Amino acid sequence: MEHEHILILDFGSQVTQLIARRVRESGVYCEIWPFNSADDEKIKRYNPKGIILSGGPSSVTEENSPKAPQAVFNLNVPVLGICYGQQTMAVQMGGNVESSEHKEFGRAFVEIKKDCALFHGVWEVGSKEQVWMSHGDKVTSIPAGFEVVAISEGAPHAVIANEEKRYYGIQFHPEVVHTPHGAKLISNFTHQVCGCAGDWTMAAFREETIKNIRKQVGDKKVICGLSGGVDSSVTAVLIHEAIGDQLTCIYVDTGMMRAGESEQVVSLFKEHYHIPLIHEDASELFLGKLKGVSDPEQKRKIIGGLFIEVFENCANRIGGADFLAQGTLYPDVIESVSFTGGPSVTIKSHHNVGGLPERMNMKLVEPMRELFKDEVRALGIEMGMPEDFIKRHPFPGPGLAIRIPGEITNEKLEILRKADTIYLEEIKKAGLYDEIWQAFAVLLPVKTVGVMGDGRTYDHVCALRAVTSTDGMTADYYPYPHDFLGRVATRIINEVRGINRVVYDITSKPPGTIEWE
Ligand code: XMP
Repeated sequence: MEHEHILILDFGSQVTQLIARRVRESGVYCEIWPFNSADDEKIKRYNPKGIILSGGPSSVTEENSPKAPQAVFNLNVPVLGICYGQQTMAVQMGGNVESSEHKEFGRAFVEIKKDCALFHGVWEVGSKEQVWMSHGDKVTSIPAGFEVVAISEGAPHAVIANEEKRYYGIQFHPEVVHTPHGAKLISNFTHQVCGCAGDWTMAAFREETIKNIRKQVGDKKVICGLSGGVDSSVTAVLIHEAIGDQLTCIYVDTGMMRAGESEQVVSLFKEHYHIPLIHEDASELFLGKLKGVSDPEQKRKIIGGLFIEVFENCANRIGGADFLAQGTLYPDVIESVSFTGGPSVTIKSHHNVGGLPERMNMKLVEPMRELFKDEVRALGIEMGMPEDFIKRHPFPGPGLAIRIPGEITNEKLEILRKADTIYLEEIKKAGLYDEIWQAFAVLLPVKTVGVMGDGRTYDHVCALRAVTSTDGMTADYYPYPHDFLGRVATRIINEVRGINRVVYDITSKPPGTIEWE
């Protein structure tokens, strides 16, 4: 890693990823490590320009509570402790923390008592500033060398600073949007305090990663499964830029794509980028095997299994490959190393090409492993990919199969494609597409009675879904104006034969999921 970088030690906060987002937005590379994954030697070797200690669910008042490794305080680099991070820093340096009667959750105000480098150009002495708190414990006495620079009603040591050592402790969460100036505080930490110049740009990433791919792959062959989604598309274009025709992309048309989707993918990759592409139309195979199947998990398993089978056949046809490219992102990587992440219940079996690399004896190329979703989009734009392609909503691997509860038939797929196209057309026309994380139509296996013209109808119900989200893990329904929903419903019922009723899904996630199956 040639960039200046910040190390974030994670104590298990729900929002640690947001700290990383804010640091990256400030133009500085950073990594999140579980606090207990790094010994002093490893941290020293990593040589960060500064260290951030995240929040976490523990209480430092408990025995054996998590502690920052001693190296953090021996390296002579700036340290920013947030919430639990502040508390453990205070205690480890000789201060005290107690459980508080006055717990603070949600919006709070801090009063700025003294200037410090974190506040540079954003907060002035005497002002009251909105922040987002979430704590039960509070620092009750501060270590020698620190002073209190901001207070709140529930936290007399809301921000503490030791400017000589460049140590800062913040009781609130600067990383969340509900602390309106939080991003600037974090950027002050990375730039003013740690002295980072901000060399993390997508142009630099592109150049560096291309070099690394060439080094990793040499003159060997790589295959990449294209789903039409942003992650695999950007991965493919970047790898192609690095190794040209040593890359072959495989696009499996499962027959459950949206209207025009396959054509778009093929035309972008084959005609625009001239990337060798196998376009495998396996729709008959998929639909055949799904005949009579209505259980969601069974559908997902059949699709996942067939996908791997078809993909493997295509790969064998070109004589196999040494590497498989995947669009794995940083959140997946963090998830798999997280010290809080244990085995969790399977809500849905996600479909991917897992298992294939071992079976075909392929190594993985994952150039996006360090990126967040919006960085992947920025990289796509940096590489000149069409903006409307880059900004596309996520689309699940099993495709429309999980948007048709019950048995899938060609007829239902056709009906759904038409409704979905109209819905998305209207969203784009209203200028709402970029505000929404994901929007789609679902065809319900329920028929209802209607009246059209002078006749009776007995047709399907179509449900519309639109959610806002930052990562797909939690989501809320999008609050459309009623006239918009009315317009879409009218168009769908008038223009799509087979649908006579439209409803809008207002379930958040949790308790719902984004897709219906
Ligand atoms: P759920 O429905 O679990 O979806 O709330 C969260 C996000 O994941 C997408 N999704 C999938 N993506 N393969 C994928 O590549 C899958 O099997 C799959 N299932 C759901 C979903 O569209 C949403 O963005």
